[in-house]
Amino acid sequence: MKKSSDFEFDDLQGLLRFGYGKLTDTCFMLLNIANVDVAKRWLDKAPVSRAIKTNPSPDTALQIAFSVQGLRALGVNESIIDDFSDEFIYGMTRNENCSRRLGDIGRNAPRYWKWGSDVAEVPHVLLLLYAKKGCLEAWRATVEGEYFSQAFQLLKHLPTSDMGQIEPFGFEDGISQPEIDWADRHSTDSHANDRYTNLLAAGEMVLGYRNEYGQYTARPLIDPKKDRYAMGLPNAEDDLTLKDFSRNGTYLVLRQLDQNVSGFWQFLDKVSDSVPEKREQLAASMVGREQNGTPLIAEHIPGVSRKDHGNHFTYDLDPKGNHCPVSAHVRRANPRTGDLPPGATGFSVTASISRLIRILGFGQKPEEDLVASSRFHRLLRRGRGYGPVLTPEDAVKPDAPAAERGLQFICLVANIGRQFEFVQNAWIVNSKFDGLQEEPDPLLGNREPLMNGDSTDHFNRPTPSGPVQKTCHLPQFTTVLGGGYFFMPGLRALKYISALPANGNGGSS
Ligand code: HEM
Repeated sequence: MKKSSDFEFDDLQGLLRFGYGKLTDTCFMLLNIANVDVAKRWLDKAPVSRAIKTNPSPDTALQIAFSVQGLRALGVNESIIDDFSDEFIYGMTRNENCSRRLGDIGRNAPRYWKWGSDVAEVPHVLLLLYAKKGCLEAWRATVEGEYFSQAFQLLKHLPTSDMGQIEPFGFEDGISQPEIDWADRHSTDSHANDRYTNLLAAGEMVLGYRNEYGQYTARPLIDPKKDRYAMGLPNAEDDLTLKDFSRNGTYLVLRQLDQNVSGFWQFLDKVSDSVPEKREQLAASMVGREQNGTPLIAEHIPGVSRKDHGNHFTYDLDPKGNHCPVSAHVRRANPRTGDLPPGATGFSVTASISRLIRILGFGQKPEEDLVASSRFHRLLRRGRGYGPVLTPEDAVKPDAPAAERGLQFICLVANIGRQFEFVQNAWIVNSKFDGLQEEPDPLLGNREPLMNGDSTDHFNRPTPSGPVQKTCHLPQFTTVLGGGYFFMPGLRALKYISALPANGNGGSS
């Protein structure tokens, strides 16, 4: 039987295993390659952090990821690039339809972005530096070393700040994360996880391993007979004659999301008649958790204590959203549904009939008619906030200090389309999510009317004891300022890239 320690953590960049929460100071750099040879020399020596646990934990970390333009610039062969997913190859701004599906229209449109669109530059490389308080400058100097300025051109230094575990609107963040099944102890048989589970097959986050379908996500495999540089790459688990360029790598999705913190709290204050308690309750119902992270349904579900940030819950006992609105950000982003709606379980005749009815989709209540099981759409979130802290109490004051505030949203996934883009489109942007009308995500909606003229600026909060509380004309609280898809390779793939010849003829043909 496999153990977690058998996993190839020494080939994995640490961000796949750690959030680096204790490394409070960060520097996120978007780079272009200025000199390919020098960039490869730098990459070869870069002190990239691996996913190995040490005691004490390190004071610093470095992670590296590449856009498709970056891989090309470094000479990775087109035949390898072709086997990456289309979303990665053609990018986040690949066409208007994609922008519409991701909600990148109106003020979110790529033409207004500060980076990452055709108008603003798409970076080749993303460098993520982490350090303990006060250690960042020294770490940056060490990382950059002597050749850095020759190798790269700094396109943008993305702002980040140490906000503790609190995101700029004032809510505790980074609570709910999927647990990766490093030891592969969980079955990936279809319907083995009928009900919601937080444990996910490694292949949902790490390329080169079996995913929740029991399959390998499409990825570049190389015939070592045709590519001598590939010898040092890991073997493909499903075909030992091939080398797996992607194994132990992942896709990294980055979106710079500006948050209008004073706009958020001042709007809520206005519609709550400036009663602080009402304002805070409304804000919590939009998030789905209180500011301290307590899930809204905690009191109503046996076994979920208010103190326990309790990720051990589902929304099954709150189908109408009386306690946590269906539209709340966390409920949309992870509806916590199983493969099948609830029904009789076990192996009895009743259970089998109930199961058949549910598989065939008969007899479902509308609130159970979600698109699919949550476990195929999970994200490993690794973002950081930026800007000076503004408390809700200060944010409601008319003279609240203006400043750029927001989230460098980062998530790691093995399938950009099925995971990030699905969640963003079908669950967050969709104003008809789970039978709702005119209600996209209250925090993230762009409020642009639909093509048929329907508005998207509503938020409804059902209450157990009274009528639905309707909030209309929600302004846009969050604006996209940039974004991109990156590939964060395993350490051996990084070595492969840095060893390629600079003339672009490297890699299999
Ligand atoms: C400015 C933008 C955003 C803010 C302020 C925000 C805020 C939050 C907060 C406060 C939580 C609850 C704490 C937690 O469970 O960690 C949360 C959870 C979550 N958010 Fe966001 N978020 C933002 C953007 C996004 C985006 C763009 C996505 C995905 C496309 C996303 C996906 C999630 C997911 C998957 C969860 C966990 C839900 C669960 O498992 O219960 N968030 N977010």
